[in-house]
Amino acid sequence: VDPNLPIGVFDSGVGGLTVLRALRKRLPNESLIYLGDTARVPYGTKSVESITRYATQATDHLVTRGIKLLVIACNTASAVSLEPVRDRFAPLPVIGVVEPGAAAAVAASTHQHHLVLATESTVKRHAYARAIHALAPNAVVDEVPASLLVALAEEGWTDGPIAESIARTYLAPALGRRESKPQNFELRTSNFELDEAPDTIVLGCTHFPLLEHAIRAAVGPTVTIVDSATTTAERVATLLDEQHLRRTASEPPTMTLLATDGAERFARVGARFLGEEIEAGDIEIVDL
Ligand code: DGL
Repeated sequence: VDPNLPIGVFDSGVGGLTVLRALRKRLPNESLIYLGDTARVPYGTKSVESITRYATQATDHLVTRGIKLLVIACNTASAVSLEPVRDRFAPLPVIGVVEPGAAAAVAASTHQHHLVLATESTVKRHAYARAIHALAPNAVVDEVPASLLVALAEEGWTDGPIAESIARTYLAPALGRRESKPQNFELRTSNFELDEAPDTIVLGCTHFPLLEHAIRAAVGPTVTIVDSATTTAERVATLLDEQHLRRTASEPPTMTLLATDGAERFARVGARFLGEEIEAGDIEIVDL
């Protein structure tokens, strides 16, 4: 394998740009090629068969272009299709985001009670619960499907009363609160002094880091909010070192952005996820 090939990053849409951002920060000398399946997003409400078919087609496209490693930046595709993609494209190294996210949660937790916010398909597979239990067998894991937060993040409604109220509505039952109680600060804090309250909130979806403020407002100050992007980038760095795959070329690395639909929307919405401006003209539309 040529170490100067790019790292492939695949997501159902623009959300995985949060992972691309972490990869660029951790591995500034690596070339990256990102494919967002914007024509078929969201994956989070689709069937196992569809998600695996889409993930396989996307990987096939990236492999044909030439990659040295694949990051499945989508939690849903990682939860549902990591093994089938690994099997089919072996010996290509494939890293998903669920296992690194679970490892980050276990490391951050004091009494191993986790609340995972994810899409419906990720929750149905219990992917986070399984990954957390593999590391901490006695952990308590509540998994909450919160697909509406995906749309909120894409719409840019990440702060303010609507985002906070939706976050609170999703989280309240798992936190043992009734919505009729006044949602004042003292009440929220005291809930977390109970032993049974979760001490980490795991952001098990690419979109949710953008909603961290709203989620924080809903859960109070004492819970640790964990996302998988940084840990995933760390995993990639370790794997590149282990397999002697670090880029050696002296020219500057490249970043290629591919999407299956809508360059203008990808650029506009994606900029918030990547944390920098994206030119619509820089996005190549591909057909899988
Ligand atoms: N990328 C997906 C995830 O992380 C969220 C968007 C979708 O449902 O496709 O689960």
